[in-house]
Amino acid sequence: MKKISIAIDGPAAAGKSTIAKMVAKNLNYTYIDTGAMYRCVAYYAMKNHIDFEDETGIGELLKNMDIQMLPDGTVHLNHEDVTTYIRENEVSMGASIVSKYAAVRTFLVDKQRQMAQGGGVILDGRDIGTVVLKDAELKIYQIASIECRAMRRHKENIERGLDSDLEAIKAEIAQRDEQDMNRAISPLKKADDAVEIDTSDMSLDEVVAHVMDLVAQRV
Ligand code: DC
Repeated sequence: MKKISIAIDGPAAAGKSTIAKMVAKNLNYTYIDTGAMYRCVAYYAMKNHIDFEDETGIGELLKNMDIQMLPDGTVHLNHEDVTTYIRENEVSMGASIVSKYAAVRTFLVDKQRQMAQGGGVILDGRDIGTVVLKDAELKIYQIASIECRAMRRHKENIERGLDSDLEAIKAEIAQRDEQDMNRAISPLKKADDAVEIDTSDMSLDEVVAHVMDLVAQRV
């Protein structure tokens, strides 16, 4: 069967990575979490005491960053496993800030395109269908209401035994969306040829089945 490229974009905490991982497993495709790469830049800035708003400082850091996305799903930065560290709240907000810089985007988009060469890949992020893989055979724009996204994140936190404040989560998600949709370079938006899926009232299995149908129409 033909191996296609799949782009999944959408706002923060819309469940893109969960769906992308499940579809990748079904199809035996490679899943690439591009948000994790922006998170690595923010994490590295924190480690080096560089302010997220310091564009020049962040640009300098890129020269010393080696990001590896391993097939087992772990993320390594300069040979250190940073998979769990890059999920911290401060890193989420930092990633949304540093992702507005041209140097950061060029650096990571080049890497993402290299990784996606040859097809059989699913990438999720904000600019996959509009910039990174403009020619992807299948583009999905995955959305859900803010209430729904915040509630899912809140439940996940509680299941993990973490402190969680629903209103704070809602505010953080809204702020990131606002930043990601309004930056000058490659803002989050639905590609003209993307299929929009509102997952607010859908189960995971329903979303996956829908995506698998869309894949079947294209291979
Ligand atoms: O998908 P995520 O929540 O892990 O992404 C973290 C931040 O990284 C997000 O708020 C904006 C940025 N990002 C981006 O600008 N472009 C991408 N393709 C992926 C993420």
